[in-house]
Amino acid sequence: MAIEVNGGSHTSGILKIQGSKNSVLPLMAASLLTEDGTSIEGCPDISDVRAMWEVIEALGGVITYEEQRLSIDASGVGKVEICQDKVRDIRASVLLMGACLARFGQVTIAYPGGCSIGKRPIDFHLQAFRAMGVTIEEEQERLVCHCDGRLRGCDIRLPFPSVGATENTILAASLAEGDTTLYNAAREPEIVELVCFLRRMGAKIKGEGTACIHVQGVSKLNGVSWKLSEDRIAFLTYAMMVAGCGGEVSFQISPQYLNKELWILDKLGCQCSVGNDHITVKQMGSVRPIHYIRTGPYPEYPTDGQSLLLAVLSKAHGVSNVEEMVFENRFRVVSQLQQMGANIDYVSNRAQVTGVTLLHGADVSATDLRSGAALLIAAAMAEGVSHIHKEHYIYRGYEAIVENMIQIGFCVRRNED
Ligand code: UD1
Repeated sequence: MAIEVNGGSHTSGILKIQGSKNSVLPLMAASLLTEDGTSIEGCPDISDVRAMWEVIEALGGVITYEEQRLSIDASGVGKVEICQDKVRDIRASVLLMGACLARFGQVTIAYPGGCSIGKRPIDFHLQAFRAMGVTIEEEQERLVCHCDGRLRGCDIRLPFPSVGATENTILAASLAEGDTTLYNAAREPEIVELVCFLRRMGAKIKGEGTACIHVQGVSKLNGVSWKLSEDRIAFLTYAMMVAGCGGEVSFQISPQYLNKELWILDKLGCQCSVGNDHITVKQMGSVRPIHYIRTGPYPEYPTDGQSLLLAVLSKAHGVSNVEEMVFENRFRVVSQLQQMGANIDYVSNRAQVTGVTLLHGADVSATDLRSGAALLIAAAMAEGVSHIHKEHYIYRGYEAIVENMIQIGFCVRRNED
């Protein structure tokens, strides 16, 4: 089993960008805060959504999915024990902690899983819950959490603007007694979307998109119907294919919040024409090197776009330097890119990419979601046939990626042998 890519094509066409993975997962968790139904339009059919869905159903929620509309009825949720296997499949299930604690004052959860991109602890989440009055005990790799009565609002400062810890604290605080002020909060667009969703449910929250978020707890939240935003990393993935392979593609996506993505495409030699609901990306020549770039929390360049960038820079005319500031283990893609002829060295969290004139097809394996996407980009840029194995990582976050790549001009197929 693999995805087979016959490289060397140029891109062309129009592509609709899927709904955002990193938005829909916290919105699914937020749906547990109410006994009313919620519905999310534009939900992508990806395995991370299916995994989160299974966890919610195991808790007693009822979910339906029709024509990209995900409907969640959490009125029957009562059991607040999240079992080991399912949690290992999906790290975002940790967000169910904040929602369950807020609604029921208790939850038991196994340590969560997710991509293999480093330690990914949840100590900031737990610190925030403890500050809100939750007692947490560790029992055989499970966390048993409970609070007498409602959680209590308080002031919390995160040591690092963690996306998940910011989301979990907001979820917990939305039904807490009193006010919570969260300092050094993450500012990602997905957090803005979560807050807008919660506000529509009746939550009282201010400051989203800034480092200081204020939540005034309310006693009850109601259902909501929501249109999901597009996935900025999926956009970046396909746009990087344009940057690396040449050609021009028009993407259906709102340009709001894409400043850094558009900036990097410009640096790589692309021209981006921006409309209200679309962006046309055209490669104007060959890939340009980037002397130095580092990843960081929003509004800096996203860590989820780092592997994608290494792939494209491997054919740039010159030397580039990339520093990873968010996760360790995010250079595991390098050995796979090297098998395709890329010239990349790294020490610790710094990689140097010396552009080569030719990448060649190879049999390679994804090590996480974004490394898998990076290998697809490199395979599309390479001469000859590549097979990307462990492609299940890619399906965690990308909907219909094979069909989408075909739509913009590539020769790709699922190889079932
Ligand atoms: C989310 C995204 C993921 C993205 C990441 C960073 C989702 C579903 N996933 O992951 O795609 O790569 O943000 O933009 O939205 N940390 C701690 N202790 C904690 C929490 C985090 O030390 O309690 C550290 C992590 O190890 C990491 C850094 O903080 O080094 C950032 O992690 P975080 O922002 O929490 O990432 P996630 O929410 O897991």
